[in-house]
Amino acid sequence: MLPDLLLDAAYWQQRYVTGQTGWDTGRITPPLQEYFAQLGPPDGRRILIPGAGRAYEAEYLHGAGWPNVWVADVAPEPLQQLQQRVPDFPVEHLLLADFFQLEPTPPFDLLVEQTFFCALDPVLRPAYARQCAHLLRPGGTLMGLLFDTEFSQPGPPFGGSREEYRAYFAPYFNFVHFDTATNSLAPRQGRELFMCLRKK
Ligand SMILES: C[S@@+](CC[C@H](N)C(=O)[O-])C[C@H]1O[C@@H](n2cnc3c(N)ncnc32)[C@H](O)[C@@H]1O
Repeated sequence: MLPDLLLDAAYWQQRYVTGQTGWDTGRITPPLQEYFAQLGPPDGRRILIPGAGRAYEAEYLHGAGWPNVWVADVAPEPLQQLQQRVPDFPVEHLLLADFFQLEPTPPFDLLVEQTFFCALDPVLRPAYARQCAHLLRPGGTLMGLLFDTEFSQPGPPFGGSREEYRAYFAPYFNFVHFDTATNSLAPRQGRELFMCLRKK
């Protein structure tokens, strides 16, 4: 079902200030944590987390010593929250910006997806795949989680299927991994895909 709401910055900011943040897990999710743990020692790779919200992934990576972690969100509240939780996170890496307007200057090595794709109006899905490819260097990685289920309530979140998603990403990415996550949080068990895609 398409949204009858305008899913703009004001909508998301309002969700945060009124505490309607059912997606917020309060910590990095196990699939992302396990993926990051096998990246090897921290280096200069440029990592972007779009639609980051409170950005527990950024907190984790920053704490592990990764120096080039960037977060982008249209709502100021979660970025302020991150600043309060992690005062030494570089403020210039907090982008209060529309993901679709970001530029690859310079390109990123890794993009992290966590509950952002499902928050977007589904008409934007082809543009999401295109923009991820635009922001990454050739050979760069888009990884994270996508819901592989339909929701009974009107979105957000908006569900879908792996077959649908494949069609969006295939023009720009090779599929390294695109299958049901084995280590999801209990409420999401069996209902999300772990994706790891390499830009062509
Ligand atoms: C469902 S929340 C997920 C937040 C976070 N990734 C998490 O898992 O807790 C979706 C987030 O995307 C942000 N958002 C929505 N549209 C956006 C856009 N066009 N560009 C950047 N962020 C956006 C919202 O403000 C919100 O923080």
